[in-house]
Amino acid sequence: MESVGVIGGGLMGSGIAEVTARAGLKTVVIEVDQRAVAVTEQRVRFSLERAAARGKITEAEGSAVLDRITFTASLEAVADRDLVVEAASEDEQVKLELFRRVGALLTKEDAVLASNTSSIPIVKLGAVSGRADRVMGVHFFNPAPVMQLVELIPSLTTSAQTVGRVQTFISEQLGKQPIVATDRAGFVVNSLLVPYLLSAIRMYEAGYASAADIDQGMLLGCGHPMGPLALANLIGLDTVRAIGVSMYDEFKEPMYSPPPLLDRMVDAGLLGKKSAHGFYAYEVAK
Ligand code: CAA
Ligand code: NAD
Repeated sequence: MESVGVIGGGLMGSGIAEVTARAGLKTVVIEVDQRAVAVTEQRVRFSLERAAARGKITEAEGSAVLDRITFTASLEAVADRDLVVEAASEDEQVKLELFRRVGALLTKEDAVLASNTSSIPIVKLGAVSGRADRVMGVHFFNPAPVMQLVELIPSLTTSAQTVGRVQTFISEQLGKQPIVATDRAGFVVNSLLVPYLLSAIRMYEAGYASAADIDQGMLLGCGHPMGPLALANLIGLDTVRAIGVSMYDEFKEPMYSPPPLLDRMVDAGLLGKKSAHGFYAYEVAK
């Protein structure tokens, strides 16, 4: 793979673009409008400045990475890519429309069209793309520049050749660790993580303990890097809710069903770090 397109420049898309550009690949990131394009560019710039300030890269390397990334609101810019990673909002209709359009745009016969979805069936995205054998899930973790894992999710219609190419790309070109999961809502990690996060929200909703004490419990009692409510804030409460809905739709297990408090917070625009307010308040949106 020499060139990558990333659709959606939010928390994940901006991180994935940073990862591919740091690996030396020409990368284009697509957002919905010029305002969102500017926010995405600022997010990547900030992340690179932080890496430089911590001595992980030099300032010159940071600017070379930025030079490899093009930020645009034109979806057509992905047409000539070897790999496109869709990282738009966790909304099935949005993703279906994108797979329909991008499937028709790609000019290279062997280009791979991947989704970073957390829970939406890959087979449905492949079916509308017109190139189902070259579509699969490629699920990065948040924050993408830090987390080593990438889940690879072939659907019933993905070819073995596509899986092999993407596996090599993730481990050899990006230096990350792939695991393979079946095309079931939640794959491996979210099947375990999301019921845990939703249980913590239910616990807080029922008044068992304060948000800070629930988080402190898992931080100090189990050695997790952050507590479940802080992690839900990091992921984005709208995204946690959307993943729970997809998993509940698929399995009808009550543990996947978003609790009413989560619904109300999303309706109120309290989305966690990205809106500067969720289970905690933050100074600025990130
Ligand atoms: N972008 C880039 N780098 C970041 C970053 C970001 N958003 N946030 C933190 N980092 C980097 C820092 O620069 C720092 O790098 P160095 O060690 O190289 O200097 C390193 O990560 C540690 O950061 P901090 O010291 O600031 O903070 P920390 O030690 O508290 O770590 C954390 C922050 C990495 C987020 C850590 O708390 C953690 O691992 N949390 C758990 C995250 C997690 O569980 N992610 C999975 C979410 S689920 C998911 O992604 C799937 C889904 O579908 C929802
Ligand atoms: P986000 O809300 O931070 O960003 C989504 C971005 O997609 C927004 O900036 C939005 O403007 C853009 N977008 C929406 N429709 C678009 C379109 N038609 N064309 C281009 N851009 C469009 O969400 P996120 O956290 O970055 O999540 C993106 C995807 O990654 C979702 O599928 C999510 O489930 C998955 N994911 C999220 C996490 C996480 O921790 N947040 C982790 C792994 C995977």
